[in-house]
Amino acid sequence: MGAPKTDQRRSCVRPPHLDILWLPRTAMRSVEGDPSDCVLVVGVSRPKMAAAILVVMLLSLFLTFHMLYDSALHTFQASSIERPRPPLLLLSRRLYPTAARRLPQAIIIGVRKCGTRALLEMLYLHPMVQKAAGEVHFFDRDENYNRGLEWYRMKMPHSYQGQITIEKSPSYFVTPEVPERIRAMNASVKLILIVREPVTRAISDYTQLRTHAATASTVTPSSSSQRAFEQLALMSNGSINEQYRPLAISIYHNYVHRWLEVFPREQILVVNGDLLIEDPVPQLQKIEKFLGLESRIGTHNFYFNETKGFYCLRNETSDRCLRESKGRRHPRVDPFVVSKLRRYFGEHNQKFYELIGEDLGWPEE
Ligand SMILES: *[C@@H]1O[C@H](CO)[C@@H](O)[C@H](O)[C@H]1NC(C)=O
Ligand SMILES: *[C@@H]1O[C@H](CO)[C@@H](O)[C@H](O)[C@H]1NC(C)=O
Ligand SMILES: *[C@@H]1O[C@H](CO)[C@@H](O)[C@H](O)[C@H]1NC(C)=O
Ligand SMILES: *[C@@H]1O[C@H](CO)[C@@H](O)[C@H](O)[C@H]1NC(C)=O
Repeated sequence: MGAPKTDQRRSCVRPPHLDILWLPRTAMRSVEGDPSDCVLVVGVSRPKMAAAILVVMLLSLFLTFHMLYDSALHTFQASSIERPRPPLLLLSRRLYPTAARRLPQAIIIGVRKCGTRALLEMLYLHPMVQKAAGEVHFFDRDENYNRGLEWYRMKMPHSYQGQITIEKSPSYFVTPEVPERIRAMNASVKLILIVREPVTRAISDYTQLRTHAATASTVTPSSSSQRAFEQLALMSNGSINEQYRPLAISIYHNYVHRWLEVFPREQILVVNGDLLIEDPVPQLQKIEKFLGLESRIGTHNFYFNETKGFYCLRNETSDRCLRESKGRRHPRVDPFVVSKLRRYFGEHNQKFYELIGEDLGWPEE
């Protein structure tokens, strides 16, 4: 009984170290006797096996490295106030295309002299914010707009996926073509409008114009640039000079209605610039929320400079005070003229409040 068993075992095929596909048919034939006693081994030859294992190992090593690197990068971005620089590794641009120039997802549209620069610098304290340098003036100047969106994008800073790029050009607010042009770029872009009490803004505007004119026109010293604010704001018969540009720009409802015809109200955040200067953190928390950012800017980012009378910014690496050139003193304006202007703006402010659905409580005297 033992002899036939050993015979059968011998007739079992030991497949050669080859792929099953290459197993000759003759090798299968001898199994016919009693298939249950034979085990068919399917395998690859040793060199092929080794090569396959090596490929799998290399692939998983690469994937592990990729995942570790990516998650490290993300943790770094999320947990550190430092803005990581693009990785310096070879091929980093192709492997990690996260650092790129992107069109802005949020734009500070104005108003001039209401603290647009201060606001942008304060938002830049947030690690997930990138800011464009200077004012780009893409949407308000035809010569720039005609250069196309690619030109605009190249004016933007590098940013990582998930970061928000912000640009500010205060003249956007008053230029009629701008809302429609911005909508054409991105209909869901977030807009930030910072405003101040209109008379304060007008006086600040006057002060800046006078300073610029004084440095620019030493040739014609007796031009209107030397005239007092009161003389420019009021006509000789005492009525208000509505054509005077610093006053005209302060009539916010004349401009904001165009924006509201193009964008839904909830896409525009109105920031009270007077409150931002007095106490920045609560205003910035509102803006972080509006931009969908985690709350990261806090009181640790600010300190009050008694000499200057306003807040200075502080990040992990440096302290800086804003308005170095902008902290110029406002002229003392006749209180009679100030209250006359405030009464005049009262009605305009009401129209502005109605349009934005928010009462900013500006004085009417
Ligand atoms: C801190 O602020 C300075 C001045 O604005 C800036 O140059 C620097 O990049 C900032 N540092 C970080 C980590 O954002
Ligand atoms: C448009 O703006 C929204 C809001 O900021 C942003 O989420 C979206 O990525 C932007 N789209 C493009 C194409 O930039
Ligand atoms: C003052 O003069 C302007 C034109 O110069 C006129 O429109 C305005 O009604 C005058 N105001 C008064 C109070 O007379
Ligand atoms: C406050 O401002 C003054 C005037 O510009 C400056 O000299 C001083 O260094 C500032 N102090 C601090 C603590 O920043």
